Amino acid sequence: MKVYVMVGAPGAGKGTQAEILSERVGLPHIASGELFREAMRDGTRLGEQVKSYISRGALVPDELAIKVIAARLARPDAAEGAILDGFPRTRPQAEVLDAALARRGAHVAAALFIGIAEDALLRRLSGRWICQEAGHAYHEIDRPPRVAGVCDEDGSPLYQRPDDRPDTVRARLAQQLPPMYEVIDYYNEQGVLTPVDGEGPVEGVADALVRAIDSTRLAPRGGRELRQPAR
Ligand code: AP5
Repeated sequence: MKVYVMVGAPGAGKGTQAEILSERVGLPHIASGELFREAMRDGTRLGEQVKSYISRGALVPDELAIKVIAARLARPDAAEGAILDGFPRTRPQAEVLDAALARRGAHVAAALFIGIAEDALLRRLSGRWICQEAGHAYHEIDRPPRVAGVCDEDGSPLYQRPDDRPDTVRARLAQQLPPMYEVIDYYNEQGVLTPVDGEGPVEGVADALVRAIDSTRLAPRGGRELRQPAR
């Protein structure tokens, strides 16, 4: 079982890259944020529980996030592994994931940290459009769809996420960056942290991530040079 974790600030490109990696390495893309948005769209109890956290840019409580990801990882398409996008977001989530994988004789193969400057995040999030069907991400300037307002992949309408409004983006960054750095430290200690520059073109970042994944296949766990990411 191979589990890759995408780590990065809101808007760093985790979803965009996880979708590409999913095709390139043949593992499902599991996005915690998309699972929550789906629940909110469907008006489920989970959707009701997470709505107030997401709308104010806060993290959903660990126990809810863990429950949702555990259920998703138990589905048959994840038997060989997964690309996790948006989970773990806190150190306790990372520890629970490690324990769950250990019970299946597995571990996180690499934590792929996409680094990007804060001004670029704001620009990316304010221009982002998402498809209603599956959460495919576009950018009105950098990555426009072929037909305005329509998803290239599944033809569903595109919308702007309410939590991409500037005030909420600032709240997301303020509340979510400190726990993200704890997750980075955790994976650095485990020797599986792999930082990649997220500011180039989408395809260039994807190539760098694939090279990083390939290098983890050659190196033993914890056997790579430990690198301290810039803050
Ligand atoms: P989530 O959906 O995970 O949001 P996020 O982490 O804030 O990440 P984003 O989806 O905003 O950004 P991204 O890094 O995926 O960037 P993208 O590829 O779209 O979570 C939503 C909420 O749910 C959270 O705020 C929290 O409340 C809750 N939540 C989720 N998981 C949780 C957990 N585990 N625990 C607790 N709470 C949780 O790219 C952004 C834009 O940039 C797009 O327009 C894209 O087209 C463009 N772009 C991407 N790459 C490039 C590039 N290289 N060049 C130019 N443009 C690019």
